[in-house]
Amino acid sequence: MKKIPDSRLRRIRVWEPSGRSCEFRNPIESNKVSLTDLASNDYLGLSQHPALIEAAQKTMLSEGVGAGASRLITGTRPIHKKLEEELSKWLGFEKVLLFPSGFQANLAAVNSLTNRYTTVIADRLIHHSLLVGIKTSGAKLKRFAHNDINDLKRLLENCINQQPNQTPLVITESLFSMEGTCPRLKETAALCKQYRAMLFVDEAHAIGVMGEGGRGLCYKISEPITMISGTFGKAFGSGGAFLATSNSISEHIIQSSGAFRYTTALAPPLAAAALAALRLIQANPSWGKKLQKESNLWRTELLNEGWNIPSVIGPIIPLLLGSDTESLDKQYQLEVNGLLTIAIRPPTVPEGTSRLRIVLRNNLPTNTLEKLIFHLRKQS
Ligand SMILES: Cc1ncc(COP(=O)(O)O)c(C=O)c1O
Repeated sequence: MKKIPDSRLRRIRVWEPSGRSCEFRNPIESNKVSLTDLASNDYLGLSQHPALIEAAQKTMLSEGVGAGASRLITGTRPIHKKLEEELSKWLGFEKVLLFPSGFQANLAAVNSLTNRYTTVIADRLIHHSLLVGIKTSGAKLKRFAHNDINDLKRLLENCINQQPNQTPLVITESLFSMEGTCPRLKETAALCKQYRAMLFVDEAHAIGVMGEGGRGLCYKISEPITMISGTFGKAFGSGGAFLATSNSISEHIIQSSGAFRYTTALAPPLAAAALAALRLIQANPSWGKKLQKESNLWRTELLNEGWNIPSVIGPIIPLLLGSDTESLDKQYQLEVNGLLTIAIRPPTVPEGTSRLRIVLRNNLPTNTLEKLIFHLRKQS
């Protein structure tokens, strides 16, 4: 095995909720102080919401914990159908299919839309699950510069000139997990229409918090979007994921996707919690806007402090540092002062772009930004 330098080593650390919202503590390491969570993707704080806990508990008591089989054997429960139907109505897609995780949903998505003759044109920074999907499909991969619509156009043009009878697949994310940036989705969809390409958008970080009423950033784009994926493991505070697409593509997935067919169905308590989250998000359409307003304020204040931040519009705010050790030092310094952030290093992000990833959530204590700025300032 290749020797990994210390600054690149990953460690699994244990965190437990402290009992107060937005706080974790480490039950194993000596430093047992409670830390304000500026790292997880529980953007709306729903993972500990009483409505989700009650829904999961109720389902568990009546149906047990696991589904016990895959969707096509005996694993499909009424709660799965209900969640799929309500999501498809909410998002405006013909059909929604559930998966045990977003990683798996993305594998199924790419494999259902491609074969070894397809050219996939993907943003340079798409999630690892999508890259694995492309690899397993055998499709050819071309990558465009991050969020660069002109580079995408160039690749689409080349592709259509070289293979006029092929339908390329364009892949992007609506809110990039490590950058916090968003592509120009309307123009991307228009280009795909112009070049007769399919478009897949991973909405993992946007669903629940971005777009109209938290429906994600693809909602109401008039040009066709072939498929989106979303996860319940982030803003929805549960676990599991979904693909939303047309009737015909979803039928193709049911008939042919190993990632859909050969896995135990999403645990019913998680599906029940996801449905409870969906209903809370529908009943509180301003939650996402509130988070976005707060994110804008944080970004402005941190930029004023001189931090290098991409042009983000959502709750993910990376402080770009470049060096692995500097990012780890900053993580540690914040941690000893009660703030939990995570240094993100290559290969998760490109070489030379290590960063501290700061993630906002709707229920942070009021003085968190001031505290963060104070402790960042103290160390720089
Ligand atoms: C952009 C993106 N897509 C997909 C996933 C996978 O989702 P899940 O955690 O449900 O497997 C993640 C999670 O890390 C992600 O950040």
